[in-house]
Order: sequence, then C-alpha cells, then structure tokens
Amino acid sequence: MNLRICEKEDLPLVAEWLNDPETMGVFNPLRQQSKIELEKQYDKLTPEERWFFIEKKDGSKIGGMGHFPVGRLLEIGYSIIPSERRKGYCTEAVKIMVDYLFLSKDIVRIQAHIDPRNIASQKVVEKVGFKKEGTMRKSFFAKGEWRDMLLYSVLKEEWKEPKILTKTVPQI
Ligand SMILES: CC(C)(COP(=O)(O)OP(=O)(O)OC[C@H]1O[C@@H](n2cnc3c(N)ncnc32)[C@H](O)[C@@H]1OP(=O)(O)O)[C@@H](O)C(=O)NCCC(=O)NCCS
Repeated sequence: MNLRICEKEDLPLVAEWLNDPETMGVFNPLRQQSKIELEKQYDKLTPEERWFFIEKKDGSKIGGMGHFPVGRLLEIGYSIIPSERRKGYCTEAVKIMVDYLFLSKDIVRIQAHIDPRNIASQKVVEKVGFKKEGTMRKSFFAKGEWRDMLLYSVLKEEWKEPKILTKTVPQI
C-alpha cells in the first residue's frame, strides 16, 4: 500500500470517482464536477491541501485521500472504491497519512469529521488512534439536509512515533 501524490494527468480518474455516488459513498455530498473545474481547483492547491491516491503494491489505484487546513489545523478525508472496501486498505492508508503529516509538518493535531451513521469511517480512525471529541450538531449540509457530524482528532503527543513510515536519521 502506498500513498502517491495526484498529478495533473490523473485528474480524469479523480473526476470519474468524485462524480460517482457509489465511490463517494452514501454519506458524502452529491457533486458533479467537470474536468476543467477540477483542473482549476488543482492549480490553486497549496502544499497544505494535497490530494493523494491510495495505491496497492501493484500500482493499481483504489482510492483517494486529501488533507486540508482548517485554521492552523489539518483535516483529512478519504474514500476507497467499492470493490476494494473491507480489506483494511483505508486503515493502512490513514496510518501512513498521519505518519507523513506529523513527520513532515509542524502540526499538533489532525482531525476528521464523520457522519454518525458512517460506522466504517469511525472504525478506521479509531483503529489509527483518533479520539472522538463530540458531535457538531447540524454542521454539514449534504443530500438535502443539515446533518450532525462527529469530530475526531489525534494529537501529536498521542501519536508518539510513526506506525508505518520511519524517521531514520542518517549516521554522519
Ligand atoms: C469509509 C471507507 C473509506 C472505509 O474503507 P475500507 O478500506 O473499507 O476500511 P477498512 O477495510 O480499513 O475497515 C476498517 C474497519 O471498518 C470495518 N468496516 C468497513 N466497512 C464497513 C461497513 N460498511 N460497515 C461496518 N464496518 C465496516 C472493517 O471491518 C474494519 O473493522 P475491523 O478491523 O474491526 O474488521 C469506505 O467504506 C468508503 O470509501 N466509504 C465511502 C466514502 C466515505 O464514507 N469516506 C469517509 C468519509 S468521513
């Protein structure tokens, strides 16, 4: 399992997934974005707003993950294509992302908002060590209704050391 940065030539696949309600899942908003709109969005991404592919060892792309700033905090979001769900891929990918963000950025907290009915996503973050902080009532609009969202976070002091990536310092 690898996380690989999304390049501009990958945008047609991103558009295919984003516009496919099954891939985005029942709890994400319905949206339809053209490749041109996505390209414009991609061109404006800062280093704090990267999009990644979740890839299997054979190089096949099975999902996407992004991180984006909320004030001075970082939030993550993710999705796995339907045929590759329930195989542990998302849990592994989130571990890698958390390692990467704490190793590469001066941040103390990573958070995720999750629909209370999205059991799979809650299990993913809980297995990685995120803690549930509470419910943000009627804080997210999707599919015609205002929804409650659970707020989860992991702090750098709880993470302590990488779960998958290494932080080897070369011998001088
Ligand atoms: C949420 C999602 C990314 C999980 O990806 P995944 O690769 O299937 O997750 P994992 O295989 O790592 O599973 C993690 C845990 O959730 C459980 N799980 C997975 N799908 C589940 C489901 N539909 N119902 C209940 N539990 C589920 C797994 O069994 C595993 O728990 P276990 O180790 O105790 O058995 C995937 O379901 C998805 O893409 N959904 C649509 C998009 C989405 O909801 N994104 C998150 C928005 S917050």
